[in-house]
Amino acid sequence: TQQLGWIPPLDDSPTDPIVLGFSQLGSESNWRNANTLSIVDAAKESGITLIMENAEQSQEKQFEAIRSFIRKKVDVIAIAPVVQKGWEPILQEVKKAGIPVIVLDRSVNVDDGSLYVTFIGSDFYEEGVKAAKYMLDKMRHLPGPVTIAELEGTIGSTPSIDRGRGFRDTIKANSRFQITQILPANFTEVQGRAVMKAFLEKPREEWPQVLYSHNDDMALGAVEAIEEAGLTPGQDIIIISIDGTRRAVDSMIQGKINAVVECNPLLGPLLMQATKEIMTGRTLPKRMVPPEDIFTQETAAVEAQDRKY
Ligand code: AHR
Repeated sequence: TQQLGWIPPLDDSPTDPIVLGFSQLGSESNWRNANTLSIVDAAKESGITLIMENAEQSQEKQFEAIRSFIRKKVDVIAIAPVVQKGWEPILQEVKKAGIPVIVLDRSVNVDDGSLYVTFIGSDFYEEGVKAAKYMLDKMRHLPGPVTIAELEGTIGSTPSIDRGRGFRDTIKANSRFQITQILPANFTEVQGRAVMKAFLEKPREEWPQVLYSHNDDMALGAVEAIEEAGLTPGQDIIIISIDGTRRAVDSMIQGKINAVVECNPLLGPLLMQATKEIMTGRTLPKRMVPPEDIFTQETAAVEAQDRKY
């Protein structure tokens, strides 16, 4: 794993403009929109011609986009995969065409490691660990049982799988903490609100004390549902989320969300750099992880000053 910060100088860039085909998985969240914008801006700044296709959460559409990139004979293909499984055959097609692949943001389950050059993206497992550690500390004086509701992201996606695992592995030694309700809300605000509403339609004694949301958009939807139920988010229900978008940080300042684990969407510059490095024949690390933090209500105001997304 290569920690970022590493930016060797590029002194031998090719003169022809590089063409990068990028299959973006969708536009489900504020994080995703910031990620897309970062890639578009970075391509412009680095003089790379970007052909981007939005797959709107469909792996099939990602396959179609990738095949169109092969037909167009792009120099490099980057993929932000909607789910982890099912990539081996299409990546074999890309390999046959001799086009190098960069996996971005979410990972792919493939046996053959030669099918992609590098995977650039967050450590989602570690994000789940950070969320759980915050909760264990925050609730340390409560006798328990402490009941937790979990809003999952897209089923089968790396962030949903790994954020769930990291959280569960961290709390499992402590039986006071119990996940009593868990449902997917696909990383969207609308579904986060609907699922939280459903959680709160259960008898009062089943309401959770903690909400662990796999992203900010779902947490913000849940905040609305909690308020509509006449409860005070951040007090009656402790809310922990992941991403670190401006709206979630603002919600922390208002006391409605308690903690947000950072997941950095601004991967554009790194993607362009990796693309150029591949074209100049440099060897890249197989895994690149941006450094990330956790924000709490205590640090939210400072953090809000330079939030970029
Ligand atoms: O893959 C990254 C996740 O996808 C972000 O946490 C979420 O907001 C997005 O939809």
